[in-house]
Amino acid sequence: MSFPVDRLRRLRKTPTLRRMVQETHLQCSDFILPLFVEEGKNISIEISSLPGIRRFSPDKLLHEIEEIISLEIPAVILFGVPENKDPMGTSGYSEKGVVQQAIRLIKKEFPTLVVITDVCLCEYTSHGHCGVIKNHDVDNDATLELLARMALSHAEAGADMVAPSDMMDGRIRTIRTALDEADFCDLAIMSYAAKFASAFYGPFREAAESTPQFGDRRSYQMDPANLLEAIREMVLDIEEGADILMVKPALPYLDVLREARTRFFHPLAAYNVSGEYAMVKAASERGWVDGDRIMEEILVSIKRAGADLILTYFAKDMARILQERKRGN
Ligand code: PBG
Repeated sequence: MSFPVDRLRRLRKTPTLRRMVQETHLQCSDFILPLFVEEGKNISIEISSLPGIRRFSPDKLLHEIEEIISLEIPAVILFGVPENKDPMGTSGYSEKGVVQQAIRLIKKEFPTLVVITDVCLCEYTSHGHCGVIKNHDVDNDATLELLARMALSHAEAGADMVAPSDMMDGRIRTIRTALDEADFCDLAIMSYAAKFASAFYGPFREAAESTPQFGDRRSYQMDPANLLEAIREMVLDIEEGADILMVKPALPYLDVLREARTRFFHPLAAYNVSGEYAMVKAASERGWVDGDRIMEEILVSIKRAGADLILTYFAKDMARILQERKRGN
């Protein structure tokens, strides 16, 4: 059938009709908010390239967590900004590390909040790369052991889930084995499975002070041009024991998400990264776009493409709007 029998505008006539046929719905429970924890005391500073997002010392974190819980956001992902960095990233897997401190504090006060941790060395290494350097490149197998130590130290501090973002080969199996051997067989792994070497991470690297001091990340993160390789990454991570698969960044890779949705049955996450957030904020500050509407359209598009979970700096802004809408209805 076609026009004049089919008239799609019939179901667009009123707000109620439109609501009835809406296919994709955002919920507060879709979101995971990234949090930057900085070593020290009494720190709460806004990150200039991420308006509205702050770095907190552990003692200043609880107030923020209260707000996150009141907005019904179920989970946070922690990134550490340590005082000391060295070539091996030792502050990343120390029992007294800043992320380990933060986990203990949060889980003590708010046991139901899901605390996920980013497992990667780049925030803790003096050279800013995601692993151990040998012959001017990141050494895959030497890095695996340190990643496993980091994941284990997060687990011991009380994390609910670990999220390796380093893109070393074999890291999911190595981390899974280390967790299982230490009796953490129930702790889930969210794998940054298809992580691309992206310019969209720019503001994050300022926030986490993790810009590589030489070269770039192209020998371990993926080429933005490759979809088939992204599928291979995900197949491998499933075989190695990942519980949730992530695609990162989100917007330029919606096709990867869609492809993953049709192929795999695992929950899918998408990371709406710092550059995607910063561009919207910058344009809306200038009055060039309606920031709230752009935000919602972006988040809906990510969910429509197939994401079950969205890691996003917009989590609080969007949750606030969803809550207000619910109250108004
Ligand atoms: C650590 C890591 C990065 C991001 C998340 N985990 C930076 C990078 O790989 O350079 C980026 C997140 C964002 O841009 O919001 N490896």
